[in-house]
Amino acid sequence: MTSTRMEGWQTITDLNRWHHFVNNIEHRLRPVFRRFSKLGGPAYFDNKDFPITQKLEENYFLIRGEFDQVRKRLQDFPLFQDISPEQVYISNDDKWRMFFLKANNVRFDRNCELFPKTMEIVDSDKNLVSAYFSILDSNKMLVPHEGPWSGVLRMHLGVDIPTDGKGCVLSVMGKEYRWKNGKAVVFDDTYEHFAINLTDNVRVVLFIDYLRPLPLPLHWLNKFCIYIGRFLPYYKIPIQRHKAWERRFYGEDGIPTKQYSAL
Ligand SMILES: [Fe+2]
Repeated sequence: MTSTRMEGWQTITDLNRWHHFVNNIEHRLRPVFRRFSKLGGPAYFDNKDFPITQKLEENYFLIRGEFDQVRKRLQDFPLFQDISPEQVYISNDDKWRMFFLKANNVRFDRNCELFPKTMEIVDSDKNLVSAYFSILDSNKMLVPHEGPWSGVLRMHLGVDIPTDGKGCVLSVMGKEYRWKNGKAVVFDDTYEHFAINLTDNVRVVLFIDYLRPLPLPLHWLNKFCIYIGRFLPYYKIPIQRHKAWERRFYGEDGIPTKQYSAL
């Protein structure tokens, strides 16, 4: 094995160790967060309890317009497992890509510059800790899995949903949801769920992680854990991987902001 390969293997091994460490903590907190959750513990939540969903829906065409400018480079977007190799069991081919705006309150400024209106909405609610586009290629299924942190709920806004009548659905605890353009849904992704796109077209969804409404002091504990998370290799290594992708995507020295519109 070459030294570069050894280093790569070592990184994944380290990541797996940290993945187990975070998992352990999360599995202890999960029943507590669910037990004291202000909105209970359903698979899907009522959008009325999350005013941001209405704002996202009202601004759908602005968000879609900004995404359409960038999607010309869709094939350059990072693959899920390139950023999170320790979760390769969810997807290991070239059919699931991401475009990150913000992850656990860490912003990716160059990407954000391409989404000024979207970021205005994202920044209008402090409970919103992550935002990224998820691009699922045709004839692709993400195997059943559970999300990594029960302190957040997952929101989806349908950005470009194929409508050719074949299966393009999300399933949480066996309950099916069909995405629609400009419509939001809120669910607990720490329940087993999967996504499938059996259509001939790409499916695009805006993913958002939203702080689970919890009473004090659990709310503070949740925020503290999310903040501390950014200093752990489990989180730092994916950030480094993302930074490396950014350097390639925008060129070593970056592209002046004015040229972004030409992407
Ligand atoms: Fe998921």
